[in-house]
This record gives sequence, C-alpha cells and structure tokens, in this order.
Amino acid sequence: MRVGVLTGGGDCPGLNAVLRAIARKGERVYGDEIVGFLDAWDGVMERRTIPLTIEGMRGSLPKGGTVLGTRRGSPFDRPDGVDLVTATMSDMGLDALIVVGGNGSLSVACKLHQETGLNIIGVPKTIDNDIEGTDVTFGFNTAVQIATDAIDRLHTTAESHDRVMVVEVMGRHSGWIATHAGIAGGATVVLVPEHPFDIEEVCERLVRRHRRGRFASIVVVAEGAIPQEGTIALADREVDQFGHIRLGGIGHLVASEIGARTGFETRPVLLGHVQRGGTPTAYDRVLSTRFGIAAIDAVHEHAWGQMVALRGDRITHTPLLDVVGRTRAVDPDLFENVASVFFA
Ligand code: F6P
Repeated sequence: MRVGVLTGGGDCPGLNAVLRAIARKGERVYGDEIVGFLDAWDGVMERRTIPLTIEGMRGSLPKGGTVLGTRRGSPFDRPDGVDLVTATMSDMGLDALIVVGGNGSLSVACKLHQETGLNIIGVPKTIDNDIEGTDVTFGFNTAVQIATDAIDRLHTTAESHDRVMVVEVMGRHSGWIATHAGIAGGATVVLVPEHPFDIEEVCERLVRRHRRGRFASIVVVAEGAIPQEGTIALADREVDQFGHIRLGGIGHLVASEIGARTGFETRPVLLGHVQRGGTPTAYDRVLSTRFGIAAIDAVHEHAWGQMVALRGDRITHTPLLDVVGRTRAVDPDLFENVASVFFA
C-alpha cells in the first residue's frame, strides 16, 4: 500500500519513534511505501512530502521533535482545504493517511474521515496526556520526568534561601503533568485546571507549613490552572492565529500573590517548552514504537476512523468519534486521594 503520514499540533518527544516504527513495519513486513507529509496539513494541501524509509529514519529513535515538522491549522480553515486534501490523496495514489496528533489534529482527522470517507487512522500524541480513549499518550512521561528533575533542583535552592518556588508546568486543560510531577517532586501544593484555586487557601497552607518549621516550599501550577471566581483576576491572554489561547504566566501571578500575602520570599519558574524538547524517556520510546506498529497494522486491518490506544498494558483501537471534542481530566482519585495528602 501507499500510506501517507503527518504529525500535527505541538511537537512531542516520541514522534520520530512513531514514524520510525511505521516505516519499519510498513516497509519490512507489508512492503508499503510510506510518504511523509511536511508541516502537517499544510504539506498535504501543498503536496510537500519526503519518503519515510527504514534507511532515512535510522538514528531517529532518541531524537526529540519530528523530522516531518509540525503546525497547527486545519484544511477546514480554508474554503478549498478539504478538496486539496482529497485531491492529494487520490492524485498521489495514497491508500491511507495516518494522523499523529493531539485533540485538534485528531478532530480534523475524524471530520475528514466522516465527510469524505478518507481512510484515516489516528495516533494520540500530547505531553498533556489529556486525550480520551487511551490511558496514556506518549510524551507525557518525558514531560513529567523533565518537570520532576527541575523540581528536584529547585528544592535545594529554595531550602538554601528559605523561599517559596512556584513552578509552572504545561497542562492546558488538565493537570496530569502538574499532579504527577507534584507527587514525584514532593510539592507542597499543586494547582490544576480541574480545581479552580483559592489563593488565600494556598497561602494559608504555606503559612501552616512554615509555622511547623519548614521554610522552603514548592508550589506546582499547571499553565491552565484558574483562580476561583471573585478571588484574583487573570490578565487577558493573547490568542494565536488559530484561536489557540497562549497560556503561560499564571505562575508569575501566583508567585507575586503569595509573596505579597505571606511576606515569604517567592520566585516563579516557567518550565515552558523545555518540557516538550529533547530526547524521549525509555517509556515513551517504547510506547511510541508500539503506537507506530499498531497504526500501520490498523491500516492493513482497514480499521478506518480508529485511533490506536493503550488500555491497561494492551494496545487496542478506539473510534475517533468517541475521542474527539472531549478532554481527559486528571484522575480524581490520584489528585484527591494521593497528591492532596501531601499538601501542607
Ligand atoms: O501540546 C500541548 C501544549 O504543550 C500545551 O500544554 C501548551 O499549552 C501548548 O501546547 C503550547 O503551544 P505552543 O507550542 O503553540 O506555544
């Protein structure tokens, strides 16, 4: 078969491992030709491609980013976009398209499959771990490790100076990274989008802890955390050309409020894109490889409109329709009955 592949949305450690696995099994086992589209949907509409071969993907397993490049944006953003995609698929003789992406790219994939009948398979990708239908997305484990390493380092400087360090991590709609890194790094408080926070209560916790003789604390804040209504106000946020609100900055607000309300010396640290860059962990390399293999298998099973997924320890498929338009919130049990036990 001739199979197209694209990577869409924000980049994520493990993307190259997925592509390498698709090329390996596609070429070696099925005798497929794999065509990589550059820069996500733009490459499909503009027919910008590279061959994805075993040879070409050599050495890519530990590399961060994506050799295909990635973009936000969708063919549905322009009037001729969908026609361009279908024309590319038929003119290039492509039998299927594998879309490796987050909630945005998978929604586009699902809509295209439904409206045009294109043979599409989805592969879930995001460091945020907020995609329904799979227990884990690749990239998440790497992001948690990076955030945990940073928190470990911040502990020693916080302790030396008797400071509160406010660490902002990614997590647009869900607090998976914040909760896991908070547990792993021994945070005093973790603020997540799922639970709007009361800054006064956060300060009370810190004061209580400091009264007990501890003078350094780590507060982990997910970038999408929001204050309870009527408490502190968030500044207006920039929106990018795709209507994507540019987050990042809540950590500064939380830090300055803590400093002003408690008198404790407080510093904000924004980890930002460091969490998405660089080499994937061993766990993510294995998961990405399994997803890539499952995606090319799904093509040969004609499992159109399905997304590969991890359920327990098994790789399976789930319909894209059941996944898109939803966000997987952080496990309430993990947040309320594990992470919270360690809050001051
Ligand atoms: O991929 C998801 C994510 O990492 C979010 O956590 C974050 O809000 C967003 O991407 C950042 O996007 P950009 O790279 O466009 O700034």
